[in-house]
Amino acid sequence: MSNIITIDGPSGAGKSTIARLTALRLGLSYLDTGAMYRAVTLHCMRKGVRLDDPKAVAGTLADLDLRVELTLEGPMRVFLGAEEVTEKIRTPEVTRNIHYVADVMQVRNLLVEQQRKIGEQGDLVTEGRDQGTLVFPRASLKIYMFATPEVRARRRHAELKQRGIDSSYEEVLEDVSKRDYLDMGRELGGLRKALDAVEIDTSSMSPDEVAEAIVKLAKARLKMQTRKIDKSALEKAREEIERRKQGQ
Ligand code: C5P
Repeated sequence: MSNIITIDGPSGAGKSTIARLTALRLGLSYLDTGAMYRAVTLHCMRKGVRLDDPKAVAGTLADLDLRVELTLEGPMRVFLGAEEVTEKIRTPEVTRNIHYVADVMQVRNLLVEQQRKIGEQGDLVTEGRDQGTLVFPRASLKIYMFATPEVRARRRHAELKQRGIDSSYEEVLEDVSKRDYLDMGRELGGLRKALDAVEIDTSSMSPDEVAEAIVKLAKARLKMQTRKIDKSALEKAREEIERRKQGQ
């Protein structure tokens, strides 16, 4: 059986950055399940169906051709048919609409099945909301990562400010709380901590510190070895993670 490390938690806890860094350090592939929900959202938007109609959303799945390509060094690549949509799924419109699509049972069932198939193919760091609870309940190591809503809102507010986007801290905090409410309230695949997950509060830790803590746990529990990574690969990954955050 493959060694699976799951990382779940609310938006803004730093999951993507940390999952990428952890996967790089351990030489594992990285599965970004949020990107899969984003790709289905883009597919539905392009079909022009009413996103608040679950039947219409489910109806678009018949001709969904979603493929992901895991890479060791780079980010996961996402394709709809022959078209690469890795960057196109990171727009604010997709982010705004995603909750409609993530609520639809048929969408979740389909993506959970795809994620499990990927997990059968080899060792993996996988990141999302339901990875340790629903998708990989027998994962080798489960992490539940969180930070207070105030810290997550402060991080997001600073990011927006850096991009020259005017918003008040209160607005951002409200948005963070709304996303938590939607993610936690979802009946199937909602955000919950698995009973056997290790909790990490990232409120006062840097992404590198958190990744280091997970790598230590993986080495102790799974007898995994870190691999020597070339500094430029790590730097490149960091830069690209930053660039992506700016786009969302
Ligand atoms: O991780 P990311 O912010 O890209 O995820 C976007 C959205 O996709 C989340 O807010 C959540 O609604 C949904 N999602 C999910 N289940 C997952 C991963 C993401 O419902 N496993």
